[in-house]
Amino acid sequence: MCGIFAITSNKRNNIGEILVECAEKLTYRGYDTVGIATVYKNRIHLRKDKGKFNEVAEKLRLNEMRGSKGIAQLRWATFGAPSKINAQPHLDCDEDLCAAHNGNILNFLPLREQYTEEGHTVRSMNDGEICVHAVERYFDQTGDLLEAIRSGCGDLKGDYAFAVMHRDDDKIYAVKMGSSLFAGIGVGETCVSSDLPSILPVTREIINIHDGEMVILSPQSLEIRRIADGEPIERKPYTSDADIRVAQKGGYPHFMLKEIHEQVSATRTLFSAIREPYISQFVETLVKAERVFYVACGSSYHATVVGSYYLNDLANIAAIPVIGGQFNSLYGESIGENDVVICVSQSGETKDVIDVVHHAKTRKAKILSVVNVLGSTLTHLSDLYLPMGSGFEISVPATKTYTSQVTLFNFLATKAGERKGILTPKTAESLISELKTQLPSLIDETISTTTLKARALAPYLSKYSHFYVLGHGLTHGVALEGALKIKEVCYIVADGMYSSEFKHGPLSIVDEGYPIIFTIAPNDAEHIVNHLAEVECRGARIIATGEDHPLLRHYVKNDDFLVVPPSSQYLSPILQAIPLQLIAYHLATYKNIDPDYPRNISKTLTVR
Ligand code: BG6
Repeated sequence: MCGIFAITSNKRNNIGEILVECAEKLTYRGYDTVGIATVYKNRIHLRKDKGKFNEVAEKLRLNEMRGSKGIAQLRWATFGAPSKINAQPHLDCDEDLCAAHNGNILNFLPLREQYTEEGHTVRSMNDGEICVHAVERYFDQTGDLLEAIRSGCGDLKGDYAFAVMHRDDDKIYAVKMGSSLFAGIGVGETCVSSDLPSILPVTREIINIHDGEMVILSPQSLEIRRIADGEPIERKPYTSDADIRVAQKGGYPHFMLKEIHEQVSATRTLFSAIREPYISQFVETLVKAERVFYVACGSSYHATVVGSYYLNDLANIAAIPVIGGQFNSLYGESIGENDVVICVSQSGETKDVIDVVHHAKTRKAKILSVVNVLGSTLTHLSDLYLPMGSGFEISVPATKTYTSQVTLFNFLATKAGERKGILTPKTAESLISELKTQLPSLIDETISTTTLKARALAPYLSKYSHFYVLGHGLTHGVALEGALKIKEVCYIVADGMYSSEFKHGPLSIVDEGYPIIFTIAPNDAEHIVNHLAEVECRGARIIATGEDHPLLRHYVKNDDFLVVPPSSQYLSPILQAIPLQLIAYHLATYKNIDPDYPRNISKTLTVR
């Protein structure tokens, strides 16, 4: 995934300053290369290079760039290695036009050949460059930039958003075709961005842009047109109440630790974000489905694994959790109008999930979704969505959004169980009351009671380049998520798996002192005693998260037992991800790895 930010103004002459201030908030979207182009005295000035945003911004003094309009781009490399020449923005052949994109242009290579044969100078191996040549190709023919952009989009295949500008006017044009794009209307300036936080330093007056639309930015006004026919579209701005401070660290050393602590408030704001009648409509659709699929990626997928166990336990519903990139190959032919696909994506932009939605809609399946970023592509494509209300999650590794998702799935399964008459209204009310009133303080207590032990484990765990995290039933997804956190921020191969499966092969890895982390729900201790025994007798060092239990005490030393406060079979799995997040966080910092921006990965992958 990448991030673009573009602004045109009639009150700034050193546009580089605001471009840097706003684009810096997109760092989590890509930190392989960075570039800014501005127009000053009718010439395009372009500075770009490989590296993280702050490094490149300082080295190239991006904040000193002159002019009254400009485009910034932060890149997570897909097509074309991270390098200066592949960095964005890109110029057209004659350096009259400049553009930058987010997403991927699937027919990049054939277009590169075609345009080169037509005489274009395509300088890089980055698919984003093809956007500016696609526009240039028609602009050279017609001289009408708006029409040239519309025609240029006709050449491009894939999901993308791009911004383009000419050196001779005060406009900037932006296109949304499958990747995220938001617009902002300030005083004497307008802007677009891949994500909302980066618009807030300019304005809180926001307009959501939908796929198939283009935006024409002028300093005093903003116009939306449909790309297909050029027709103007009226859409009122809304005032965003998002707290920009949320996007800052607030005194924590890293966004990841801040967001681990924000799980207390996020599980509270979740219940103010979801509203009737949408909750009942969501549950009704779920209950009536012939088949229910969860579709998600990364941490969101792990949340759906826990969600599947909740639906089984609380509502006797079989929900199949499927990884986004896998769904169409596994269920694409059988999915139909009686099926429900619950898409879960904090960004609402993950391409592997969006692809499923496009296919499932052709099969008339119902698309429900759980999304954090409002106005994101998934919210537009779904029949019905529930917002997570987690606030901005900046750190690449998901924490608070994962926990909010699991909490929401617990709630929805309870409502579905009540709707089906499996749970009495009284039982359902009591379970939901636990979620709404007890969970936030239990999360707070869990963080307090497990942080020291989590931190103390770092020196021992840092000696291993691989180990396992095992879960059972409701904590299966918790084990997968804990393992992913460790992979993501510690560069250690932590493998999450079902504890009963460990003896069928992986047990061979165990030798004296080998670390095995167990995450155990309160009622499952008896079920996994033999799983504990089989590794302990072979010398493994067992680390466990779970409620205090004499059986566990027999196998787990006190320093290795990250005890979560007593709650219930259904709340405990939500709490148990927290010590695993803390183990990962403190192990990363012990290894001098920045947990917010781990190498090679990105917060949202809008490429398949
Ligand atoms: C990955 C991120 O790229 O996408 C993960 O590194 C995230 O942290 C996954 O869980 C899915 O993202 P989303 O936005 O669809 O929940």
